[in-house]
Amino acid sequence: MTLKVGLIIGSLRKASYSRRLALALGELAPAGLAMKELAYGDLPLYNGDLEPETPQPWLRFRAEVLASDALLFVIPEYNRSIPGGVKNAIDVASKPTGRNCWAGKPALVVSQSTGPLGGLAGSYALKQALAAVNCATMPHPEVYLGRIATLFDGDGPLVPDTRDFLRGVLASYETWITRFVPR
Ligand SMILES: Cc1cc2nc3c(=O)[nH]c(=O)nc-3n(C[C@H](O)[C@H](O)[C@H](O)COP(=O)(O)O)c2cc1C
Repeated sequence: MTLKVGLIIGSLRKASYSRRLALALGELAPAGLAMKELAYGDLPLYNGDLEPETPQPWLRFRAEVLASDALLFVIPEYNRSIPGGVKNAIDVASKPTGRNCWAGKPALVVSQSTGPLGGLAGSYALKQALAAVNCATMPHPEVYLGRIATLFDGDGPLVPDTRDFLRGVLASYETWITRFVPR
């Protein structure tokens, strides 16, 4: 059985490193993982007053999260935290009360930054929010990719060492998912 992985790319920039990394992860993933991007850029900001006439993008996003066996977040760090759009997406799919779409889903967080710390603080902020919505984030191996610009061969692929590292991470992730989703 193929496992459906909902992919959340934490940057809306066209030339985003997070997006390039996410595409590379899709190529490196074991055959049993099928990744599908879950777009969140069109979600109105969460406001409980909108629930009675639920915005269509909220309904779509909630259904996509529910249909995913697992989640993969690839994010940059923004001001020692996560991009606001990603937080909004988490909030939207955690409501209305009693219908939290994230509950019990296994997740992997990959952070990157052009700086040396690899988005460590952003990764921790995301893991904290995911714990609050009862998502089971893989604890190890941790993935913080610092100086991301140097990890690509110019405009080309990831450098071989990083590819090898990520292949190992993805193998662990597949094992992690199968703890929650029987095959
Ligand atoms: C609003 C904003 C805040 C940022 N804050 C941080 C930060 O706190 N720590 C850090 O290492 N990088 C920070 N950065 C840099 C980004 O994390 C870095 O450029 C990242 O590679 C961008 O990812 P992207 O190419 O996927 O958009 C920030 C960038 C932006 C736009």
